[in-house]
Amino acid sequence: MSYNLLKGKKGIIFGALDENSIAWKTAERVKEEGGEFVLTNAPIALRMGTIKELAEKTGSEVIPADATKIEDLENLVEKSMEILGGKIDFVLHAIGMSVNVRKGNHYTEQNYDFTQKGWDISAVSFHKTMQVLYKKEAMNEWGSIVALSYMAAQRVFPDYNDMADNKAFLESIARSFGYFFGKDHKVRVNTISQSPTPTTAGQGVKGFDGFIAYADKMSPLGNATALECADYTVSLFSDLTKKVTLQNLFHDGGFSNMGVSQEVMESFVKGQEEK
Ligand code: NAI
Repeated sequence: MSYNLLKGKKGIIFGALDENSIAWKTAERVKEEGGEFVLTNAPIALRMGTIKELAEKTGSEVIPADATKIEDLENLVEKSMEILGGKIDFVLHAIGMSVNVRKGNHYTEQNYDFTQKGWDISAVSFHKTMQVLYKKEAMNEWGSIVALSYMAAQRVFPDYNDMADNKAFLESIARSFGYFFGKDHKVRVNTISQSPTPTTAGQGVKGFDGFIAYADKMSPLGNATALECADYTVSLFSDLTKKVTLQNLFHDGGFSNMGVSQEVMESFVKGQEEK
């Protein structure tokens, strides 16, 4: 269903790798709601993924940018304004990667070069993106910037590894930069804390299948899908949420406020009986 919520709005969408990506679904939904955008991803992801297909489908241009590189981000923001014919109304940061997770390093056995690379990609890139937008005065008033997070920023999920710390860092950057963006340019900055979702990044987490099934059973409304996350993001880009800022917004079917659910308790008891 489309409501034209983003008619006339222009944006930049980071992080669409393939059709499972949350950013991919968001691009499709933004297009349906009348928004126009530039797609971007790291050069290597452009080679490996299928973003061109999305670009054709949505009539968008793709500009490569490694989100850890200021010069790439400057080029991205300048070119986007040229292509879109004006300042930016919305930005989605859907970027995450931990080298320690990729290499199978346990949380207590981190390689700190990997740790640093991980936080640069997953958290500091959000600061860099906003700093470039801010310095270039590239955002329109009442614009909206969203990054995607996960509840391991607040609670312990052992297999989420150093991504937990990266997400805590990301959420803090949203608040800290959001203050200045709000005060100086009337731009809002939020993070959406999304349910586990079967994407390339999601499936990189050890034991993901168990993880996603457990979250689904714990949540009164079940896990939120990538498409539902896209819908929520559209609402945050729209003028219906103009005074929502500095928030970490849980989009997780209720998971974050649960202690235990009947289903999880039953399967735990069953497991105990079988022992
Ligand atoms: P995905 O694997 O489809 O997207 C991750 C994206 O990050 C990829 O497009 C990748 O190319 C991009 N990326 C990595 N390094 C980059 C760099 N240096 N510069 C620019 N882009 C770079 O997976 P997904 O799940 O759609 O991830 C999007 C966001 O959602 C991430 O922040 C992730 O942590 C977050 N998230 C995912 C959840 C899940 O279970 N899948 C749950 C909660 C949050």
